[in-house]
Amino acid sequence: MKKRISMGSDHAGYQLKEYLKTKLIEEGFSVLDHGVDSEELADYPDYAEKVARDVMDERVDFGILICGTGLGMSIAANKFKGIRAALCLYPFMAELARKHNDANILVLSGRLIGRDLAWSIVRTFYSTEFEGGRHEKRIRKIMKFEGCEKR
Ligand code: RB5
Repeated sequence: MKKRISMGSDHAGYQLKEYLKTKLIEEGFSVLDHGVDSEELADYPDYAEKVARDVMDERVDFGILICGTGLGMSIAANKFKGIRAALCLYPFMAELARKHNDANILVLSGRLIGRDLAWSIVRTFYSTEFEGGRHEKRIRKIMKFEGCEKR
């Protein structure tokens, strides 16, 4: 079954979000787009929150957030319980973010990477599974910081 994805960006990530949304829909994914809907200035924490809540409440399988660098979105999304948002600049980072960190939100930069590279990062992210094993206990330790014992 094709996965459900929640997406959000600020103005600096708008163009890339639109491009990736089209590609994902063409691939058969169901996309919940929280905006923005233009390049008008917007505050990235507002969109980080919407996507983080979709992931926390299991309305989607994973999230994608985009801002200028990806840093603001990462910082904001990682404030939410159970969120493991990973800023990835290369496909290999996306592979390890899934295999080792069980990342549930992919964060991208709208200003530092091109759309082809971004699409290749997205494809790697959604097609890679968490490895579990030794990485499982590390994720549990992070969850303890949040007061969550269980996954
Ligand atoms: C907006 O200019 C920029 O600050 C934002 O997109 C992001 O890069 C913040 O981390």
